[in-house]
Order: sequence, then C-alpha cells, then structure tokens
Amino acid sequence: MISQASIDLVFETARVEEVIGDFVQLKKAGSNFKGLSPFSDERSPSFMVSPVKQIWKDFSTGKGGTVVSFLMEHEHFTYPEAIKYLAKKYNLEIEETEQSNEQKEKANEKESLYLVSEFASSYFKNILHKTDQGKSIGLSYFKERGFTEETIKKFDLGYSLDEWQAFTDEALKQGYNIDYLEKTGLTIVKGEKRFDRFKGRVMFPIKSMSGRILGFGGRILINDKKAAKYLNSPESDIYHKSNVLYGIYDAKQSIAKEDNCYLVEGYTDVIQFVQTGVTNVVSSSGTALTSEQIRLINRLTKNITVLFDGDAAGMRASLRGIDLILEQGMNVKVCTFPEGEDPDSFARQNTFEELKDYLENNSKDFIQFKASVLFEESKNDPIKKAETVRDIVNSIAKIPDQIKKEIYIQECARIMDISEDVLFSTLAQINNKDLKDDKKGGKGDYKAFDVIKNKQQPAQVKKVDVQYLLERKIIEILLLYGNKTEEFEDLVLKENDKGDLELEPVIHQAKVFEKIYLDLQDDEMQFGNPQFKTIYYTLIETLNQSENFELKNFINTVDPDMGYEISNILMEDERYSLDNWQRMDIFPKEKQHSVAQLVSETILNLRCFLIDQKVKQFQQETLENKANVNKNILEEVKDYSGLKMLLSRKLNRVL
Ligand code: CTP
Ligand code: MN
Repeated sequence: MISQASIDLVFETARVEEVIGDFVQLKKAGSNFKGLSPFSDERSPSFMVSPVKQIWKDFSTGKGGTVVSFLMEHEHFTYPEAIKYLAKKYNLEIEETEQSNEQKEKANEKESLYLVSEFASSYFKNILHKTDQGKSIGLSYFKERGFTEETIKKFDLGYSLDEWQAFTDEALKQGYNIDYLEKTGLTIVKGEKRFDRFKGRVMFPIKSMSGRILGFGGRILINDKKAAKYLNSPESDIYHKSNVLYGIYDAKQSIAKEDNCYLVEGYTDVIQFVQTGVTNVVSSSGTALTSEQIRLINRLTKNITVLFDGDAAGMRASLRGIDLILEQGMNVKVCTFPEGEDPDSFARQNTFEELKDYLENNSKDFIQFKASVLFEESKNDPIKKAETVRDIVNSIAKIPDQIKKEIYIQECARIMDISEDVLFSTLAQINNKDLKDDKKGGKGDYKAFDVIKNKQQPAQVKKVDVQYLLERKIIEILLLYGNKTEEFEDLVLKENDKGDLELEPVIHQAKVFEKIYLDLQDDEMQFGNPQFKTIYYTLIETLNQSENFELKNFINTVDPDMGYEISNILMEDERYSLDNWQRMDIFPKEKQHSVAQLVSETILNLRCFLIDQKVKQFQQETLENKANVNKNILEEVKDYSGLKMLLSRKLNRVL
C-alpha cells in the first residue's frame, strides 16, 4: 500500500496542466487551457484544463476529474499505477506502508499465484512453438482455424502436452510450489498423484485489465463426447470468472476510442475479430454476463453491442441477461449473424470492410429488437402477448434515465401495436412493485419521486430534471462557498397582536454549509441522486471538521468517481465560456456578494419541488385506490399543501 503521505505529496506536486500536456496539446484560453479531446476525434477543441481548480473536463465525452483520473482514463492505469507514474515524473520518493503479517502473507500468496500463472503461460507458449508435438498438433490446429502467426503471438496462445504431468514436473523442477500449482488449478492433486489439468489442450491465457495472467481456457482437440470442449481454470484468489472478460487487456484502448464494445460468446470469436481488424471486442467466455463484467466495460464506454450466434435458442436465453446492462445506464445494441454462423466464422469469411459494414448495418437497438422478436412470436396469441408486454416493460423499467424510458415506451407501443397508456400503466405497476419491495428492504423512499407519465401530469419528466439540477446546485454551492460565513434572513412564524400567525424576518449569521445542512435536515430532505448524496455527506463532514476548507485539497482526496462527478459540476460553468453559449438556466448567475440569497433560493426551490411531488404522489395514490380513499392521505396532502404555501411566500420574499 502506498502511504497516505506519499499520495498527498504526489497530489501537491503534480500539476494537472503539465501532466495532461504530455498527452494533449494545450493552448492557453483565459485562465484555462484548452485542446482537442484525446477521447474522441474532434475538430474543434472542447477539452478544458483548469490550473486553478486542478481539474480537467472533456465536453465531447463528458469525462472529467483530477490529474489521477485523467491518467486512469487515458492510460487505463489503476489508482496506484497512476500515483506511481506521477511520482516518477516528478522524481518523488514513494513510501509503501508496512502491511500486517496477515496482509503480507495474503499479498505474497496472490503474487505467487500470479507468478505461477505467468510461468505456465510462457511454458505453454514454448511447447506450442518449440516442440514437435506442439507444432504438429497445437500450432497446426490454430493455423487450420485461420489464425496467423502474429495473432497466435498476440494472444499468447499455447499448448499443453498430452502427457499426465509434463507441465507439473517442469514447474516443480523450476522451483514452483505445489500449493500454488494446485490453487491455480494448473495441477490436480489426488493423494500422491499429480495431473496436469489441461493435458492435451490448446491454451488461451485469460488476462486482467492490466495484462496479468489470471487463468486459462483450454480447448480439447479430439472429438470426445465425454470431455468438455473447453476447460477453464477453477476459481482462485486471482481468478474470479464473474469479473473477467476475455480480451479486455488488448481491447481497452480501442473500446475507449471507438466508444463501443462488442460482446461475443467465445475465445475464438474475440481472436478472429481482432485478426480481421475489429479490435474493440471482449467475451464473457461462455458464462452468463455478470454486473461486474459490465462494470469493467462501463469504465471504458457507455455503449455495448451484443453479438449473437445465428441460432435462435441461444439468443432467447441471452435476452434476459441484457437487462443487467440496461440497469447500469448503458446503451445496448444487438446484432445477429446469419443462420449457422457465429462471429468467429463470419469474421473469418469476410474482410475488415465487410465485417464493419455488416456490424453497422445490422446492429439494432436492444429494446426495439426485443420488442419485435417477441412480438413476432406472440402476435396471434393474446395471452402470450400480455406476457410479452410485461417482459418488455420490465426491461424498460431497468433504464435509469427517465426521458429514455419514455421514448422507449412510445417506440414499443408503435412496434407492438398497442396503446402507450397500457405500457405506461404496466410500467407504473412494475415501479410500484419495486417501490414496495424496496420499502420491505428498508431502503429510503426515493423511488416515490421516480415519476411515471400519466394523463393528469404530462410535464413530469421535465420536473425530474429540476430536482437533479437543484441537487447539483446545492453541491456546487457547498464546493464554492461552503465555508463562507453569511448573513441569512429566515422567516419564522410568529403570532401577531391579533393572534394571527405571521411570517417575520430574523437575521442570523451562519456558515453556508451549516445553513444548508440544517435546512435540509429540517425537511428530512433526501437527495434523490445517489452520487450527489454521497458527495453531499462527504462535503458536509469535511467542512464540519476542517477550519480551512480548500477546494483543491478536497478534490484530491476524494475517490476518482467522486472527483469526476465534482469536476463535472464545477466545470459546467466553464463550458459556457467555451462556446459563449447563453445560459438558459432557472438560476440567476451567482455573484459572490449574493451567496446568501443563492443559498436560500436554491433550498427553497428544492423544498417546493419536493413537496409538489409528494402532493402529486398522494393525489395519484388516491386516484388509484378510489375504493378506499385513505383519510390519512388526505390529511397529509392538506399538511403538505399548507407547507408549500408557506414556502412559496418565503421564496417570493427572497426573489
Ligand atoms: N465454453 C466453456 N466450456 C465449454 C463450452 C464453451 O467454457 N464446455 C465457453 C468458451 O469460452 C467458449 C464459449 O463458451 O469460447 C463459447 O462456446 P462455443 O460457442 O461452444 O465455442 P466456440 O468459441 O465456438 O468454440 P469453437 O469455435 O472452438 O468450437
Ligand atoms: Mn466457434
């Protein structure tokens, strides 16, 4: 582990403009630098670096963050790798903290597993290229499949001799410990006997994002109905099949650059694609896709295209797994191949241009695809059709973005020849059910604000954005002015001479963050956006603990995801200076002298908005349960409406 002191030193020393300047040509633009985005092929510069805030933002892709997150994005470094890179650039000494014996043992053991795997990989390669059996059986098999010499080297393909313990003997002779050989699964130990797991197979090493060998897939070469065609390394401390993707190490740069990832089923599909020239491809290697695997891709791009073999049965099973991708807010396309073809065979028979054209012309939006496939099957069967509708809407419900959801509903209504209303009410039912399930699980009631379109409230989708903008504004205010002391005017309810309740202004001094925290707490207001919520609590805690809050220091201490989000928020302003766009915001452009006003107004706006939502939600519930109009609900609506009026009066005063 790198010590915190070293990390701090690196952050203090590294200048974002200098580090990025090594990769991007930057020109001074006002107090900032700008240049062409290294993440897209753009002509006019939309990439900004702020030396003052020590952050960067790429407006063409939406990426942004600290100096470390730039290196993680651009070079695909891990966090420690980025720190070490910077230390080297600035000639800083890195200090690694002492680990406990237990940690050390664990780390040593993992390291040993890596070393054994690396040894095995070079051993299998050597056998493939340098021995008679390797050449006549393994190498000729790969050649027969159409793999070139270059491809075989690129993927570090190998061969394991058809002998009981040739590999194990050699590994032991080289001093590798039998424990580690067993733990990586390379050797099977049965009492006194030892066997090579991959005896007589061609070998596909599986690499991590950073290129370390984690495990292997081995393909049998003879036709044996009893033996599995592919054998894979068992789970170990370094190989977890649910969070590796075959090919990710070689594909990561091009996935980021092409801003799309092709997902295929098998090892050979990946290899044949890369050989044909389509390099942004990975495989889940025969297992059902997991959320961890999707997260790996999500770090590189928001777009996935899932490629299906040309057999219908396999495709139907996979359609469900795709909902997982939607859940992570990614855009999913699917592409099928002609009957009897898989990506491997198709790529082999076609040139780069043909393959590219095919992929471009046959990739369809997933939801539309699913709707049309299922619709075809069920159009003459009303019961099946009802199931299909639920199935599709279930997928749509997984999409986090409200506006996208709505567009899909409209689209599917068209494809399936069914009214939008039916789809919207199915979505409402599903959301309601999720909401109830969530409540059972003890989670907050955020989903109550998750809005569903219906006839009474046509403009709701827009309002969700308002909440987002307001929450974001609060974070921005905290970042920029959180530590400032301001005079706030609060209105408190007082009884006047006649005994009526009246609002009376009271002036008091407070720090901006205290004011925000207390006001929001009064309302038991919860952030709807989970990222904002995390940032909010981190900020409040930091502001509360440190006398001299410094924005720059703060950004450098938070984790990369949060740093990214924060720089997004802070750079939003810069964007307008970039293009001189008019700001069409609901907020006045804030000036330092009206911080207090900005704070009050933002909080009041947010409170009004949330109350509005609550009232509407209650009205909706009342509408839906006409039979048992709940007296409590009516009471609550009355309370909230009263509160809303009060707040509106405050807001009018502030404005
Ligand atoms: N797979 C596996 N174990 C098996 C069969 C398949 O792990 N017994 C995985 C492998 O990662 C394989 C993928 O599932 O690459 C797809 O399987 P399949 O389509 O049967 O294999 P292909 O890649 O088409 O293999 P080949 O072309 O070599 O026959
Ligand atoms: Mn195949």
